[in-house]
Parts: sequence; structure tokens; C-alpha cells
Amino acid sequence: MRDAVVLVPAAGRGERLGPGAPKALRSLAGEPLLVHAVRRLVASQSVAQVVVAAPPQARDDVLHLLAPVIAPPALTVVPGGQTRQASVAAALAVVPDDIDIVLVHDAARALVPVELVDRVAAAVRAGHDAVIPVLPVVDTVKRVDAHGYVTGTVDRAPLRAVQTPQGFRHQVLRRAYHEVGESEQGQVTDDAGLVERLGIRVYTVPGSPHAMKITHPSDLQVAESLLTGVAG
Ligand code: CTP
Ligand code: MG
Repeated sequence: MRDAVVLVPAAGRGERLGPGAPKALRSLAGEPLLVHAVRRLVASQSVAQVVVAAPPQARDDVLHLLAPVIAPPALTVVPGGQTRQASVAAALAVVPDDIDIVLVHDAARALVPVELVDRVAAAVRAGHDAVIPVLPVVDTVKRVDAHGYVTGTVDRAPLRAVQTPQGFRHQVLRRAYHEVGESEQGQVTDDAGLVERLGIRVYTVPGSPHAMKITHPSDLQVAESLLTGVAG
């Protein structure tokens, strides 16, 4: 059932990846990260439309790069903002009112499995207002003070690392973005964090190692291994 719109924040510079093009336009196995990500999103039977928040100067490039995968009117490209939150807000602003399910997916999570997209959308369709994919935290986690001394060990059993796509009832995400003050910009690192502030319960589904976020140069190598089946 193609009943969801996916917002794809893709306007980041990719500073941790080092000098070069904006991260979403960097190449992985010969194709930009954004193309990998959107191809996977569109392969989901849940996805009806895609809204990309692009680097402001790259709108035409993005339309051109995505042409083999998706084109207007199913694709909309809007200029992104200074923060991820601003980019998502810009994309959310063009979602038609009659859409019930909105997913938000980082272009940097280029290898997201189609099944994960379906799982998140299905959980929203089943009645959850907000749904996030998570993985258990495998490392031991400690609190460290400003001087580098350990002040405690955190029980990791209830901890989860959070991925995208995150899925929302459209009106819930609208309200979350509407109610976030300018002063709070950037303090919440994912979309579900804004929804939590409304007192709305967020449901978790199993994430995937393939939905890893490409952040540092070594992540590109890991992603390439996942793509060619050498790892994962
Ligand atoms: N993003 C965005 N607009 C911004 C900042 C980030 O749309 N102003 C997007 C990125 O393109 C990415 C996702 O949000 O798909 C997650 O952000 P991150 O991994 O931090 O990417 P960058 O901000 O590009 O990387 P860095 O923080 O290293 O500069
Ligand atoms: Mg960033």
C-alpha cells in the first residue's frame, strides 16, 4: 500500500567526511549516497512520494541524479536549511494534508534495507503515532567527567541506538515541528525526540546494521563491504 511520504534530509555538508561535495552527493560504489538511499526507499511498497531537502545550490543536480529512480510529481526537491531540523521542516512543509504517514530518512543511511522501511511504515499503519528502528548497544557505556575520569558505568541493557527511517502519523509530526521553539533548534538530534516532548509514546522496531549512518571516511569502506556482500 503506497500511502507514505518519505522526507529525506540530504542538505548536510558532511564535514566529518572531509573536504569535498555535500555528503549526500558523494559517491559509494560509483553512485551518490542519495541515489542509493532513494532507490531503496522507492523499492518499498509503502512509499508513494519522496521529498528531498537538498543542498540549496544542488537542486537541479539532485533532480538529474534521481531521474532514473524517481521524478516529479512523485519527487519534490526543496532547499534544505542550516540544521537537519530545519531541512526536515522545509520538507515537511510541502507534504499534502491528505497524507497520513510520514517517514523521515537520512540520506547518509544510504544502504537502508527495504524491509526496514516496510517495517516502520507498517507499525505506523497499525496505529502507532511514532515508530523508530533501534539496535541494542553493544559497547560498555561509561560516564566521563570534563577531566577524562570515569564517574560511572551505565547499565546498557535498556539502551538502544536509534536509526532512520523514523515513521510518524502526519499530524503528530506536524504538531511536533510546529511546537518546537526557535530557541530549541538543534537540541534534539532526531525527529522522535520532538514527538517525545509532546508526551506521545514512541514505539520501537528492530533496526538493521545496514541502516548505519555514513559519518566518517571509514564508514564509506564499511558501506562498500556491505554492498558487495563482503561483510554483514
Ligand atoms: N542534514 C540536512 N541538513 C543539514 C544538516 C544535515 O539535511 N543542515 C542531513 C544530512 O544530509 C544527513 C542527515 O541530515 O543525510 C544526518 O546528518 P549528518 O550525518 O550529521 O550529515 P552532515 O551534517 O552532512 O555531516 P557532518 O555533521 O559531518 O557535517
Ligand atoms: Mg551533521
